[in-house]
Amino acid sequence: MSDASRYPRCDQTPSWLALSACAKGPMRQQDIRQAFVSDPDRARRFTLRAPHLLADLSKNLWNDTIRSLLVALARECRIEAQREAMWQGQAINTTEHRSVGHVWLRSPEPMTEFPDAATRVPSLAEIIPQREAMLEFAEQVRADGQILNVVNIGIGGSDLGSQMACGALQPFSHPRLKLHFASNVDHHEIHRVLEQCSPGNTLFLISSKTFTSAETMANAHTARQWFLAQGGEHHPLSRHFVALTANAQAARDFGIETIFGFWDWVGGRFSVWSAAGLPLAIALGRTQFLEFLAGAHAMDRHFAGAPLQENLPVQLALLDIWYRNFHEFDTRCIAPYLSQLQRLPAYLQQLEMESNGKGVDHLGHPLEMATSPVIFGEPGTNCQHAYFQMLHQASTVIPVEIIACRENPSGGPLHHRQLLSNALAQARALMLGQDDADPHRRCPGNRPSSFVVLDTLRPDSLGALLALYEHRTFVCGALWGINSFDQWGVQLGKVLARDIESRWDSLDATGLDASTANLLRHIAG
Ligand code: F6P
Repeated sequence: MSDASRYPRCDQTPSWLALSACAKGPMRQQDIRQAFVSDPDRARRFTLRAPHLLADLSKNLWNDTIRSLLVALARECRIEAQREAMWQGQAINTTEHRSVGHVWLRSPEPMTEFPDAATRVPSLAEIIPQREAMLEFAEQVRADGQILNVVNIGIGGSDLGSQMACGALQPFSHPRLKLHFASNVDHHEIHRVLEQCSPGNTLFLISSKTFTSAETMANAHTARQWFLAQGGEHHPLSRHFVALTANAQAARDFGIETIFGFWDWVGGRFSVWSAAGLPLAIALGRTQFLEFLAGAHAMDRHFAGAPLQENLPVQLALLDIWYRNFHEFDTRCIAPYLSQLQRLPAYLQQLEMESNGKGVDHLGHPLEMATSPVIFGEPGTNCQHAYFQMLHQASTVIPVEIIACRENPSGGPLHHRQLLSNALAQARALMLGQDDADPHRRCPGNRPSSFVVLDTLRPDSLGALLALYEHRTFVCGALWGINSFDQWGVQLGKVLARDIESRWDSLDATGLDASTANLLRHIAG
């Protein structure tokens, strides 16, 4: 059995029992407002620094006792050993018997924190040539005056990371190039993109780790048909179609010659650092893409070296456990107070919910405890005009995570001041609440929030932010004793979709449940 299964699961540790006792006792009624009154130093003590950002965790429903017990829980689950196992290349993806190596993709040299890792992980001599080939191609595209449109065709981890990062870093992107992302299989997306393109000025990136995802293949075939029908014969397909994949043979079978590969130890939702990040590399260029990697690496070194009580990914993960398993909060709201981070919640949904939305541990034993919360969110201030009403007054408590930037690369100081005043106000309002003679106007307050402040939004700070969430997700999974790196739950739907599609013309309902059969007849009949 893999090494990963020999670590204690958090719900089978002494600290879990102590935390359970706390959660049932007076701690349950902890009042954040009162905590600030009785401890003037609270804000300072519960604020952590990490590369490119600061996180104020003081407006949360915890205190020194809880925090110490949570750190003890991390120690009993041997989080530091599990962290080292990842960097050393052990097969912590236990069901696919794979290493988890996205951290190696952004490491300029072997990590001194794990000196013997070099013996087991792919050498940089293997990783750097792949990266250099991708970056050289990116520079060629940026220098090629003919290419105006770059179309990434991919879904899930082959879309969300690059799309989010290209949107977030638009001010740093090449002025001539327009990045497009087509992911869904409904014809609207690919049609909307192709309408804006012509064969001679468009580069298609077919991005798929497996090169089998049905949506991506359908869109890729449509794009190729369009390309050839639009007079593409004057433009060699090889010059306008590139594959980003771990399955080079399938890409060649599709007719693509230029292939940027990555390894099976790069998980889809962790792949923006690899060839799957080519759209971002084209948008940013070599220097800025390397800054993006360097920002993530800086966070890697913080995660690898900071003591647990000062380790921001660990502290955020422990707070997640406290809220999910002891307060039984089912959701967490992500509120990025910057429009450029519009797609960050969607990216984090896959990162956290596909990683930790699991029901059994590494050994296949059913879990008695809950795991990933539901992650949702929209940029502020829009979220305030959509669902913050519920956050302030509903009986359901939803922890909020505000992500702000000290300075906005897009400028507009007065706009930014108003934006950040709202961010600060929302965190304060959630905590304070308001009493009122009219019960309809009352807000209970004592609602928790974490406040993350990026110094600014640049390639390096975005890289650091994403690495922060990757490591937080890893620590949560390690504490829960689950495999955060597979996604078997999505396979059944894919199989059933192929079966139903095969019945579309015949309407053959043999073996279908009556509901699906009726709907198939209604829709396809
Ligand atoms: O179905 C889920 C999933 O496998 C994700 O984990 C992955 O990011 C996405 O589909 C796309 O997979 P691929 O990159 O192989 O097309």
